[in-house]
Amino acid sequence: MIFRQIVHDDLGCASYLVGDEHASVAAVVDPRFEIARYLELARYTGVDIEHVLETHNHADHVSGHGRLAAATGATIHIHRDAGAQYDHEPFDDDWELELGDVRLRAVHTPGHRPEHTAFAVIDTARGAEPWAVLTGDTLFVGDVARPDLAVDKEEGAHGMFHSLHDSLLALPPETEVWPGHLGGSLCGGHDIHNLPDDMDPERRVAAICMSGQRSAVAASQLQRLGAKRVLHVVDGGVGTWERLGYPVERD
Ligand SMILES: [Fe+2]
Repeated sequence: MIFRQIVHDDLGCASYLVGDEHASVAAVVDPRFEIARYLELARYTGVDIEHVLETHNHADHVSGHGRLAAATGATIHIHRDAGAQYDHEPFDDDWELELGDVRLRAVHTPGHRPEHTAFAVIDTARGAEPWAVLTGDTLFVGDVARPDLAVDKEEGAHGMFHSLHDSLLALPPETEVWPGHLGGSLCGGHDIHNLPDDMDPERRVAAICMSGQRSAVAASQLQRLGAKRVLHVVDGGVGTWERLGYPVERD
């Protein structure tokens, strides 16, 4: 079988090409916007990308599913609860995608988002049980995803607990974990444990970004690390700031 992790260092994201070289078929899971690497890998391994799978609707990066579907004719799949407006085939928990001898099985894992789904990877040439699971934004290495971005934080945390304990930990103990994020992601998996040395926790600090989303993460992170006077600039972020005539310094 073919199993490749593609790391996007700039955003701390990981995507995957999974397939069967004998059946010449593959799927891409959580593609990034730039799709050249997937097309190159598919050419190199001699497979056609026939499917694109999303673990969830991403708020931290623009998905390349549309570009990939346009370039390859692949079908896009995402859990029904995503309510996706683009062309796709919705799936439910336990749905299976057959790629030659390889199967990707949907493991619905709500918490980070209601539609979030992990994909258990089964190589039937090797055995009937999954040997790996693409955990998307549910489980990272040494961390779990934020449950407070898409839904009420208690509802999200409740979902996350059950997704981890009832679904992911129910997989065979030797199952390898391949996450959707590495260090540095906004969805979780950060590696900042203290305020910067030169930052006074009593000093006023404002978190602002273009959409308000990253600054929400930054503001809550700063507060958690002990900053006492954090202001989250909402209502349009940098765009509104500029429209109101306040100065912006650019690199
Ligand atoms: Fe996410």
